[in-house]
Amino acid sequence: MFEVKPMTGTIGAEIEEVDLKQPISKPLAEAMRKALQSYQVIVFRGQHLDLTAQKRLTAVFGPIMRLPYVTPTETDPEVIAVLKEASERNVGVFGGDWHSDFSFLENPPAGSVLNAVEVPEYGGDTVWASQAAAYDALPPQLREIVEGRDAIHVGKPYGVKYAPPEETRAGGSIRMTRGDPLADREIRHPAVYEHPESGRKALFLNPIYTTRLDGMTDEESAPVLEAIYKHCIRPDFCCRLRWTPGTVAVWDNKMTLHYAVNDYDGVRRLLYRTAYADPA
Ligand code: SIN
Repeated sequence: MFEVKPMTGTIGAEIEEVDLKQPISKPLAEAMRKALQSYQVIVFRGQHLDLTAQKRLTAVFGPIMRLPYVTPTETDPEVIAVLKEASERNVGVFGGDWHSDFSFLENPPAGSVLNAVEVPEYGGDTVWASQAAAYDALPPQLREIVEGRDAIHVGKPYGVKYAPPEETRAGGSIRMTRGDPLADREIRHPAVYEHPESGRKALFLNPIYTTRLDGMTDEESAPVLEAIYKHCIRPDFCCRLRWTPGTVAVWDNKMTLHYAVNDYDGVRRLLYRTAYADPA
């Protein structure tokens, strides 16, 4: 059906010989879902997709989901432009810390799609860390703490209680709604996610949004979470994508963390982003 070239021994694969501008057949869709299940991040080069084709690809993995708090494009409320202008220097970027997307929602996105339009010749990579690999290699004393336990997530950057200082916020081209008291609600999810089809387990803890482990205070949780975060972004669990115009990546948001590398001041970078929910 297509060629699969793993990016590392742990996570990520490039999928070759697929033209996503064409209609996606049921067998192709099924094969792509299986590839995502195996590799957690799948990458297609040279696609140059318009937004219609991007959304058709996104819908292969689940119903398209509108993300809250981030202002979408003017033309399509289901699409976010991840943009940093060449003039934006010394600013934080969208996604420039290890995280999974919106884990503070009751139903976080199942996954996301990024479609590169304009990217630096070098720099501006995205890195993903397999939280399945991190779970598999978790030291027993940490595994004992998280297994069967919920973690508490709060939409800190968007709420009131934990509002970040102005200077640490992401740069100007991405507009976010902030100061929503509803984002301060505590939402719980199992600290260990189990993939509904494969049964594979993954850590589901979020350096941005997880405030504590259930049954423990913030103070008691902090050293445990710190030890887990140190472990779960080990290079052994990561793949790093160098973007080229037309590259498209799809990832599983529940099985991975990701990080946008901010090393390209002075160069414009634009990718379109869509997200999908778990199938109904
Ligand atoms: C994100 O979705 O977190 C941003 C990823 C990127 O811009 O590389």
